[in-house]
Amino acid sequence: MNVLIFFFLFVFPLYSRQLAREYKIHSYGKSFNGFVAHLLPHEAQKLLEEDNVVSVFPNTHNKIHTTRSWDYLGLPLRLSRHSVESNIIVGLLDTGISLDCPSFNDKGYGPPPSTWKGKCVTGPNFTGCNNKVIGAKFFNLQNAPVTNLSPADDDGHGTHTASTAAGGAGGGGGLDGIGGGTARGGVARARIAMYKVCWSIMGCSDMDLLAAFDEAIADGVNVISVSLGGSPRMFFSDPMAIGSFHAMQRGILTSCSAGNDGPSTMTVQNVAPWILTVAASSTDRRFSTVVALGDGEKAAGMSINTFTPGKNMYPLISGELASNVSRDGYGNASACDYGSLSKEKVMGKIVYCLGTGNQDYVIKELDGAGTIMAVEDPSDYSTTTIIPGVYVDAFSAGKTIDHYINSTKNAQAVILKTISTRSPAPYVASFSSRGPQSITFNILKPDLSAPGVDILAGFSKLATLTGDPKDNRRNVFNILSGTSMACPHVAAAVAYVKSFHPDWSPAAIKSALMTTATPMRIKDKTAELGSGSGQINPVRALNPGLLYNISMNSYIAFLCKEGYNSSSIGIIIGTKGFNCSTIDSPQGTDGINYPSMHVQIVPSNSSISAVFYRRVTNVGFGNSTYKARVIAPEGLSIEVVPDTLKFSGLHQELSFKVVLKGPPMPEETKILSASLEWNDSKHRVRSPIVVYKPTL
Ligand SMILES: *[C@@H]1O[C@H](CO)[C@@H](O)[C@H](O)[C@H]1NC(C)=O
Ligand SMILES: *[C@@H]1O[C@H](CO)[C@@H](O)[C@H](O)[C@H]1NC(C)=O
Ligand SMILES: *[C@@H]1O[C@H](CO)[C@@H](O)[C@H](O)[C@H]1NC(C)=O
Ligand SMILES: *[C@@H]1O[C@H](CO)[C@@H](O)[C@H](O)[C@H]1NC(C)=O
Ligand SMILES: *[C@@H]1O[C@H](CO)[C@@H](O)[C@H](O)[C@H]1NC(C)=O
Ligand SMILES: *[C@@H]1O[C@H](CO)[C@@H](O)[C@H](O)[C@H]1NC(C)=O
Ligand SMILES: *[C@@H]1O[C@H](CO)[C@@H](O)[C@H](O)[C@H]1NC(C)=O
Ligand SMILES: *[C@@H]1O[C@H](CO)[C@@H](O)[C@H](O)[C@H]1NC(C)=O
Ligand SMILES: *[C@@H]1O[C@H](CO)[C@@H](O)[C@H](O)[C@H]1NC(C)=O
Ligand SMILES: *[C@@H]1O[C@H](CO)[C@@H](O)[C@H](O)[C@H]1NC(C)=O
Repeated sequence: MNVLIFFFLFVFPLYSRQLAREYKIHSYGKSFNGFVAHLLPHEAQKLLEEDNVVSVFPNTHNKIHTTRSWDYLGLPLRLSRHSVESNIIVGLLDTGISLDCPSFNDKGYGPPPSTWKGKCVTGPNFTGCNNKVIGAKFFNLQNAPVTNLSPADDDGHGTHTASTAAGGAGGGGGLDGIGGGTARGGVARARIAMYKVCWSIMGCSDMDLLAAFDEAIADGVNVISVSLGGSPRMFFSDPMAIGSFHAMQRGILTSCSAGNDGPSTMTVQNVAPWILTVAASSTDRRFSTVVALGDGEKAAGMSINTFTPGKNMYPLISGELASNVSRDGYGNASACDYGSLSKEKVMGKIVYCLGTGNQDYVIKELDGAGTIMAVEDPSDYSTTTIIPGVYVDAFSAGKTIDHYINSTKNAQAVILKTISTRSPAPYVASFSSRGPQSITFNILKPDLSAPGVDILAGFSKLATLTGDPKDNRRNVFNILSGTSMACPHVAAAVAYVKSFHPDWSPAAIKSALMTTATPMRIKDKTAELGSGSGQINPVRALNPGLLYNISMNSYIAFLCKEGYNSSSIGIIIGTKGFNCSTIDSPQGTDGINYPSMHVQIVPSNSSISAVFYRRVTNVGFGNSTYKARVIAPEGLSIEVVPDTLKFSGLHQELSFKVVLKGPPMPEETKILSASLEWNDSKHRVRSPIVVYKPTL
């Protein structure tokens, strides 16, 4: 008999009490109703047929959004502070936390704010919290056989994201001296609450994620940061969408990573309109690793090489020359493939390899002294090598080294320790997931970008620097890249804005961050589908001039317009019994007061035609006049009606519409980027306008 066990989430009070009692493994109910149970398919079906059960969906697993690569960001955010900052609690749903990291020193912190209702769970490798990290819990509803059944961080990811968001200033030494300077979080005075939902053996399951949202909301966190995700799903079966909606209802904005599946389009995750979806961009600091050759030449590449070389150079050989000739034609020696090299020829030498990377693991196993990996398309972030190593451009530095090996009898080289360098203005990282999104077509995602390349932040000594068990380097800091690293920067920016404007709604804070973001330098054709409104500018966001606010009822009307029925909407918002046909359908292409404007042209050979209805709230000066300034490319006409907004008081709201027209887009054009900026000569309130033509 083939017995399948299914996990289901019921996000509603259950009618069938009997089944519930028998199979329940966890009841949500602090912030929303529902439970998780092991059920057979026919039991699930039976439940679905009952009146009060609005949805049953299977438990799936999500994963953290980091690449296994490290590099450096100078100082995260240098900001002026509001005294209430230390009352702000940043909640993170992640892999746990390590209090060994100096970022979490609580010297000078008073007791937790009086609003805090959470607690600190202890267990293996986790002895307790302090006045900086005021809460820590773990969720393993499946009873998976995990090590460290506690909030301990045996991955390092959660410690890194937590310290990026709200770590105090600590540790001037960087990672073994690389990237020295102070690493600190965006809201360095804020408090941290960690909800461990990710486990090394199984990732982060839906049910644990939902349980963590439930408790974080009830515990009184002020902003939630979630650097993980899975494939996009309709909102009623997406725990991230459901959890963050409930958070939003309590005034808590959720910041999520966009995913690391770029640069392909249609890869963005965590796309609900009430979530802040964050892309990863670079900063002005990069890492450089230099190879010194025996002939006095030098070649530079990228990596995080923590090893300090001795005085002497090492013999240098290419994979081709180190090939194991007696192997049976297996593997590509030039690329240093596993099994292709002779251990005798590699031992004690630096090996030059062509190809895609990760050969450092092969060379380590053969007792090589180091590796130079020549790649045709160097990545835009740095990777920590497990032995002395560097990635070089195959067409420039690689050629030089290859030529030197060929033309010298006793070639020699040494790989120096990594140093930090300057790099041009921000660009969107290649790995950062791109839009358009596949769930709500006419909402632009990601929303924003923040630093996510080469970020130095706290780390856990329960993990090694590369995550590889054969690595013996452990540190309380590490350098990582990923949209995972970008997300907590935005959570910190949210907390920062909130500390000045405690009365602003989550949508208002999101609008402030989006309309004041700095448009990104566009390196590839995906434009705003990669960067959203641009890179955050938290200081400007304190004083945005105008806000695009969104009420709960407008979210519900939006969901009705998107085709969600009453029961699906019931799951998302947590109440039942309303009826979409009793709600006025919102007008316009997207039907929501979003701070950016986006339309996908379907069918793709049709003319461009879209209307966006918007309403802005004046939070600048009482009397002010804003003028619309539109930038549009050829082939797209944009009319703003009216094009002047005259406010006579604070908090006054005024409406306008934006009408897009144009002929069908030419064959080769996939995207048209435009923008609307409201300007009162003191504030610039900018929204990207993006027209996208999907491939047939
Ligand atoms: C603490 O963590 C270490 C490293 O991960 C592990 O070997 C050890 O078993 C853990 N201790 C407990 C009590 O789980
Ligand atoms: C070369 O490959 C053969 C066949 O796989 C293997 O037996 C031998 O140990 C290898 N020699 C060296 C020096 O690695
Ligand atoms: C070996 O790998 C390199 C780098 O990927 C490639 O350029 C070369 O063509 C490969 N050689 C063979 C024989 O496959
Ligand atoms: C070095 O020699 C190898 C073959 O021995 C050849 O494939 C390679 O192209 C040479 N490199 C340069 C830069 O001349
Ligand atoms: C935005 O809307 C919410 C709910 O509709 C309201 O409470 C809030 O005052 C509005 N304005 C701002 C600036 O948040
Ligand atoms: C509501 O929508 C869901 C998901 O599309 C569907 O499974 C369900 O049958 C619908 N319910 C009704 C009453 O139409
Ligand atoms: C929703 O409202 C419409 C119009 O008022 C009514 O015809 C319909 O039966 C209602 N549907 C439900 C499920 O109550
Ligand atoms: C647009 O494409 C559809 C389907 O390929 C085709 O039937 C239609 O004729 C096209 N319309 C125009 C105006 O080219
Ligand atoms: C706004 O402008 C009106 C008309 O110019 C003026 O009467 C009023 O005093 C002004 N209010 C403020 C707050 O400046
Ligand atoms: C917009 O406002 C800025 C000041 O923030 C001003 O320098 C600029 O001239 C204005 N631009 C337009 C087109 O009005």
